[in-house]
Amino acid sequence: MSKTPIIILNYKTYVESTGKNAVQLSKYVQEASEESGINMAIAPQAVDLYPIINEVDIPVYSQHMDAITPGGHTGSTLPEAIKETGVTGTLINHSEQRLTIADIDAVVEKTKDLELTSVLCTNNVKTSAAAASFNPDYIAIEPPELIGTGIPVSQANPEIVENTVNEIHKINKEINVLCGAGISTGEDMKAALELGSQGVLLASGIIKADDQKQALLDLVSLI
Ligand code: G3P
Repeated sequence: MSKTPIIILNYKTYVESTGKNAVQLSKYVQEASEESGINMAIAPQAVDLYPIINEVDIPVYSQHMDAITPGGHTGSTLPEAIKETGVTGTLINHSEQRLTIADIDAVVEKTKDLELTSVLCTNNVKTSAAAASFNPDYIAIEPPELIGTGIPVSQANPEIVENTVNEIHKINKEINVLCGAGISTGEDMKAALELGSQGVLLASGIIKADDQKQALLDLVSLI
């Protein structure tokens, strides 16, 4: 299990975090992590996993894996293939890549078989409590309406973070809680930790910044 607090930078499919830009960004994240001493991980697109893992030593997560077994599933992402890239773990059920309950169960179980760290994403307190019953390593609460807005969940909806932490820990105290959506500044990050989360899952505030490395250093400047 990774050291907390943790920052996971989700590369999504932004041009600034795709292909060669993804490799360069990963080097910036590694530098920012080394300079700040804060654990920073990344979640690039599946096609960029191999080149990035060859270049950096920080934890790398997949953005997704499908609930499939080897065989006839053209166009899908096989968990065993993701594992073979050398990733630390995977995001599951991101709001831009939702799964059914049965598939969430199957994928979380698969991460346990493959010894991968699971980061299960949720959208509200109720789904977070339900997600805790799958016993993932992390639950990341992200209200979809705030994603990509620059309006930080830790300030716009602090109750959702606090209540999520409380409900999850009633079920399993071992699960680390992350929060995300609109997080970009040191204030946002500090507020997220004060609400009881162990870190943040974020994207646009760093990826679209003019100076991505400086944006990461600013993010952790108050913790
Ligand atoms: O997974 C991170 C996420 O959905 C939040 O996105 O751009 O609001 O930081 P963003």
